Amino acid sequence: MSSAVESVLVEKRVFQPFKALVEQANISGMDAYRALCDEAEKSPDEFWSRLARENLLWDKPFSTVLDESDAPFYKWFSDGELNVSANCLDKHLDTPTADKTAIIFESDDGKVTKITYRELHARVCEFANGIKSLGYKAGERAIIYLPMSIEAVVAMQACARLGIVHSVVFGGFSARSLNDRIVDVGATLVITADEQLRGGRAIPLKPAVDEAFGMGGCDAIRHVIVYRRTGGTIDWTEGRDLWMHDLCQGQPTTCEAVPVNAEHPLFILYTSGSTGKPKGVQHASAGFLLWALLTTKWTFDAKDTDVYWCTADVGWVTGHTYITYGPLAAGLTQIVFEGVPTYPDAGRFWEMIQRHKVTVFYTAPTAIRSLTKAAETNADVHPRRYDLSSLRIIGSVGEPINPEAWMWYYTNVGGERCPVLDTWWQTETGGHMIAPLPGATPLKPGSCTLPLPGIVAGVVDEAGKDVEPGKGGFLAIKRPWPGMIRTVWGDPERFKSSYFPPELKGYYLAGDSAQRDTDGYFWIMGRVDDVLNVSGHRLGTMEVESALVSHPLVAEAAVVGRPDSTTGEAVVAFVVLKRDLPQGEEAVEIAKQLRDWVAHEIGPIAKPRDIRFGENLPKTRSGKIMRRLLRVVAKGEEVTQDVSTLENPAILNQLSQSV
Ligand code: WT7
Repeated sequence: MSSAVESVLVEKRVFQPFKALVEQANISGMDAYRALCDEAEKSPDEFWSRLARENLLWDKPFSTVLDESDAPFYKWFSDGELNVSANCLDKHLDTPTADKTAIIFESDDGKVTKITYRELHARVCEFANGIKSLGYKAGERAIIYLPMSIEAVVAMQACARLGIVHSVVFGGFSARSLNDRIVDVGATLVITADEQLRGGRAIPLKPAVDEAFGMGGCDAIRHVIVYRRTGGTIDWTEGRDLWMHDLCQGQPTTCEAVPVNAEHPLFILYTSGSTGKPKGVQHASAGFLLWALLTTKWTFDAKDTDVYWCTADVGWVTGHTYITYGPLAAGLTQIVFEGVPTYPDAGRFWEMIQRHKVTVFYTAPTAIRSLTKAAETNADVHPRRYDLSSLRIIGSVGEPINPEAWMWYYTNVGGERCPVLDTWWQTETGGHMIAPLPGATPLKPGSCTLPLPGIVAGVVDEAGKDVEPGKGGFLAIKRPWPGMIRTVWGDPERFKSSYFPPELKGYYLAGDSAQRDTDGYFWIMGRVDDVLNVSGHRLGTMEVESALVSHPLVAEAAVVGRPDSTTGEAVVAFVVLKRDLPQGEEAVEIAKQLRDWVAHEIGPIAKPRDIRFGENLPKTRSGKIMRRLLRVVAKGEEVTQDVSTLENPAILNQLSQSV
């Protein structure tokens, strides 16, 4: 925590909002921001009720706003009914937005396809009709395992249209992870593609689905719908497998959007926690949609003329809120990109911003840091070589953005004309929580600034008491908000114990540490639990450990994070084998095997960067692994702490050797 705290203390720069943005902003100036905050504080129910009435189309109006009777299982607008897909598509049909481009899709190899709101509506209806024709009903769960594509958006929207609860699995996750999620969510339908294209390589998807089925527990699945992306060879199970294009063929281009209760689950998205398997974060239809739309309007200052681009994958929450739902509900034109930032070269993002005249750009610090490195070694891919003058807002998400990366982004990408929006939020929060408003909030590099209107955030101690400015503590949200997680799918107890610990006065515990400065600005320090953040992706150390110990050679494993200048954190694994300590080439070979094993068990993002073998792990006499020491060893630093409680202090030396 110490280096982050130091940078807070030395960071004095403040950037006032640009006049041109303030003048036409959706929330213009700090007074307008404060007025909204005051409105929310005075009467939260009236505030949220007004926004829900003004921003959403209801099939049946709600009369209750927040129902706290079963806290922390909060309900919002719970006697109202609506359909999320109708709110993203149908609502534009009788407006000029209907013939506006909804999605500009750019494939890995640079092919551009555009689709208007009217066409997207028709595609979603055809697919929804196809799914309906197979007998699927509201409330069933569909796994979506698709590459970044128009089809992925269509699939999610088609589910929402029918009240089918989607659970998107990131295409980089392995068959094992896919199987875990299929089983946990009780899916009856899988929507996938033959293969995905990334960085010029075809990566199989349908074969992973088949492999996941082979692992058992998938008998409830009645169909696998396959989008033909590459035409690669795949196995086919007659009767179960269907091509997406065949299913859509001849279907009507209209399909009734099924009104669902406001609290009907819209989706379940798995994310890592500090213990056990990833948890299924369940979001509700109306509250999530409202928060997705409001934050798109507020934080991104959405304008009809914008060309908006969020570089996230729909496999993560960012792709749900800020690709599939928020921007469509706001009627924006957006880019959907199949590929990776470094293909064909590290200028791809800048070239695409130039080609499509992107105005709002939203990406992750890890991408910024790796593209900075690339630009420093190869002037051809430096952002200054491209015309980025269309940009008006640039955003960041997923992990703390250090002041150096912030300044580079601000200067080289934003041309010192665009505010950098450091947005703090989580899978569980549904949308932005602490983030600047482009036409109001003065910026400080490295701070996500202030809570959005209606969000009551604080930094508290173990007893839920506010800590003083400049002191570290737990980041907590003190009042419920519409976009919040409703429960952990199938495990309400885990929901309560993970997020609403009894000693915290009913506050939502985010799992991050933070501090506020004397201006009330928030500075996020990182996770307080055993969750790592690798390239903006959440990983539980226990998940990686479980994957490692399931390998026949491994007796014991402990995983920690090590700060990394590109990926934020890197996975370091300490491993005790069931055999004698391997040396030299053999150690290298086993380490490679274990890395591949983890990639196979979870996905390539979880691969340990560094594996250290030892005859033992540092443990207290009561058998507790001293992770604190392992984190020091992982950094290659000398252990200066007291190790007298260690059973076997000599082991630290052995574990400091990299393979
Ligand atoms: C965790 C949530 C938010 C959508 C993508 C990640 C970290 C996220 C920031 C930020 C500092 C951040 C936190 C949080 N995080 N944004 N702007 N500054 N940290 O969602 O996978 O649920 O991860 O990401 O540690 O708890 P997620």
